[in-house]
Amino acid sequence: MLPFIALLPIAGLAAAADISPFEKADILTDCLTQSSVPWNTRGSNDWKLDAAPYNLRLNFTPVAIAVPTTVKHIQDAVACASKTGVKANAKCGGHSYGSFGLGGEDGHLTIELDRMNKVVLDNFTGIATVEGGSRLGHVAYELYNQGKRAFSHGTCPGVGVGGHALHGGYGVSSHTHGLALDWLDSATLVLANSSVVTCSATQNPDLFWALRGAGGSLGVVTEFRFKTFAAPEKVTFFIAQAPWKTEQQAREGMTALQDFVNDGEKMPRELNMRLFITNRFVNFEGLYYGDKAGLQGVLGPLLKATNASLVLSQQGGWLDQVKHFGNGVNLDQGHPYSMHETFYSSSLYTNALTPSQLSAFTSYWFTHAKSNKRDWYVQIDVHGGPTSSVTIPEVDSTAYAHRNYLFMFLFYDRVDRGVYPAEGFAAIQNFVGNVTDKIPVEEWGMYVNYPDPQMSREAAQRNYWGKHLERLRSVKGEVDPGDLFSYPQGVVPAV
Ligand SMILES: Cc1cc2nc3c(=O)[nH]c(=O)nc-3n(C[C@H](O)[C@H](O)[C@H](O)COP(=O)(O)OP(=O)(O)OC[C@H]3O[C@@H](n4cnc5c(N)ncnc54)[C@H](O)[C@@H]3O)c2cc1C
Ligand SMILES: *[C@@H]1O[C@H](CO)[C@@H](O)[C@H](O)[C@H]1NC(C)=O
Ligand SMILES: *[C@@H]1O[C@H](CO)[C@@H](O)[C@H](O)[C@H]1NC(C)=O
Ligand SMILES: *[C@@H]1O[C@H](CO)[C@@H](O)[C@H](O)[C@H]1NC(C)=O
Ligand SMILES: *[C@@H]1O[C@H](CO)[C@@H](O)[C@H](O)[C@H]1NC(C)=O
Repeated sequence: MLPFIALLPIAGLAAAADISPFEKADILTDCLTQSSVPWNTRGSNDWKLDAAPYNLRLNFTPVAIAVPTTVKHIQDAVACASKTGVKANAKCGGHSYGSFGLGGEDGHLTIELDRMNKVVLDNFTGIATVEGGSRLGHVAYELYNQGKRAFSHGTCPGVGVGGHALHGGYGVSSHTHGLALDWLDSATLVLANSSVVTCSATQNPDLFWALRGAGGSLGVVTEFRFKTFAAPEKVTFFIAQAPWKTEQQAREGMTALQDFVNDGEKMPRELNMRLFITNRFVNFEGLYYGDKAGLQGVLGPLLKATNASLVLSQQGGWLDQVKHFGNGVNLDQGHPYSMHETFYSSSLYTNALTPSQLSAFTSYWFTHAKSNKRDWYVQIDVHGGPTSSVTIPEVDSTAYAHRNYLFMFLFYDRVDRGVYPAEGFAAIQNFVGNVTDKIPVEEWGMYVNYPDPQMSREAAQRNYWGKHLERLRSVKGEVDPGDLFSYPQGVVPAV
C-alpha cells in the first residue's frame, strides 16, 4: 500500500503533471461527485472487493475507483481522469495476469464495470448485446437460457468479457468456432475525449480493427454486440492420460501429437484439444462437438500413437461442458467476486516444433521444471492447424497478430499461500527462453491475454502485436494521443 496523501490545493491543476497521482485523489473524487459518478470510499468493503485483482501477486492501489452504472457515468469518469491528469483503465473481470484492469501499477483511476452486466439476446437476429462489465459465465448462462445460443470463448466463469474478447479469447470451442473476437459484430466505446463511438466492419473500421486485439489501450467498451451460434445439443468432453515417464517418451508423444493435429484427415474441426503438463501428470483434454462414439473414433489414432488412455469421456448438453471446464463453480458470476491466486506466467505461440525446438522444450521440462516443486503447469492449446477455425479469417483482418500459429503455450507457476518467491521468475523465463532460443524471432509470439508482466514495454508490444504494432500505434495516436488508457505493456501512441 502506498501512503495516501491528499493535500493538493485545487488551483494547482495545471502543474499536475509532475506530482504523484495520489496527491490528486481529492480533486479526482470531487470531480466524480460533482458529475454524480458513483465511486468507492477508500477502505470500504466495495473498495476492497474491487481493488483485489485475480492475481494477488500484483496488488496495485488505485487513486480512486469509479463504479459507473450508465454510459454517462463512464464518460464523466473519463473526463475527470483526463482533467486531473490521472491515467484511467477499464476493469471488467479483473482477471488480467498483469492486473492491467487496475492499470498494472499504482496510481490509476479504475473504472470498475462489473455493475454493468446486462445480456440481451435478440432471438430474431441472434445478436447478443452484452454490457462491458459482464463475466463469461454469466454471458454463457444468459445466452443459453434466453435462446439456446452461444459464442466462442474461454473457460473460467469469472473472466471478464471485456479483457477477454478485446485481446483474443481462446477456449474449448475455438478450433470449431474461432476466437471470441471473431464473433464481435460491433462495439460501443467511450474514447479518451469522453465521446461515445460505435465501430464495426462498416462504421469506424480502423478502430474496429484495432479494438479486436488491443482494445484495452483504446477506450472503455460500454457494450459489445456478438453474433451467436445455436448451442449444440450434444457435446463430449474428455481427459486422456499420457503415461510418459521419460524425456524420450515425451518427445515421441509430442511428435505424435504434432503429426496428428497437422493432419487435416485426422484432426477434425469438431475436436478442441490441449496438452496439459504438470509435475504429477500429463493429460490431453478437450471438447468434441459430437457424441461419445464419435469422439472415441476420432481420438483412437492419437491415443494409440501416444499410449494415452481415456479416463473421462462424457456426453452432455451445452451448459454441462461449460460447467465442467469452469471447474464446477457457479456459472452466473457477477459482483461480488472473490476468487484469487498468486502466480506468475508467460506464454508462447509457435508453429509445429522442429526436432531441436522440441528437444529444447522436453529437455527443460525433464531436467529443470521437474525440480520446481511449486504448483506449475504448461498448457499447450491446439490453436491453429489445417482444420482450425481460428485460421480462417485473414491474419491482417484484426489486430490479433498470431492467428496462424499452431500452438499456444501458457506457462504458469503458482503458490497456494504466501508470497510468490523471487526465484520463480527465472523458472518460467528460462522455460520460455530455452524454446525461443531455437526459433527465429519472427516465428514466435506471445498472447496478450496471457501476458508476461516482467517484459519491457518494447518487448511486450513486439511479442503481443508483431507486424500489427505500427498500425495499432497509429490508431492509438488518433484516439488517445495522450495515453490516458495507459498500462505498462499497452500500445504507445504514434506521434
Ligand atoms: C482463471 C483464468 C482463466 C483464464 N482462461 C482463459 C481462457 O480459457 N482463454 C483465454 O483466452 N484467456 C483466459 N484467461 C485470460 C483472460 O482472457 C485475460 O486475463 C482477460 O484479459 C481478462 O479479462 P478481464 O476483463 O477479466 O480482466 P481485467 O483485468 O478487468 O481487464 C484486462 C484488460 O482489458 C481491459 N478491459 C477490460 N474490460 C474492458 C472494457 N470493457 N473496455 C476496454 N478495455 C477493457 C482492461 O483495461 C485491461 O487492460 C484466463 C484468465 C484467468 C485468470
Ligand atoms: C427466445 O427463444 C427461446 C427458445 O428458442 C424462448 O424460450 C425465449 O422465450 C425467447 N425469448 C424471447 C425474448 O423471445
Ligand atoms: C508407447 O509404448 C511403446 C511400447 O511400450 C513404447 O515403445 C513407446 O515408446 C511408447 N511411446 C510413448 C509416446 O510413450
Ligand atoms: C535455459 O535454462 C537454463 C536452466 O534454467 C538457464 O540457465 C539458461 O539461461 C536458459 N537459456 C535461455 C536461452 O533462456
Ligand atoms: C473525440 O475524438 C475522436 C477521435 O479522435 C474525434 O473523432 C472526435 O471528433 C473527438 N470529439 C470531440 C468532441 O472532440
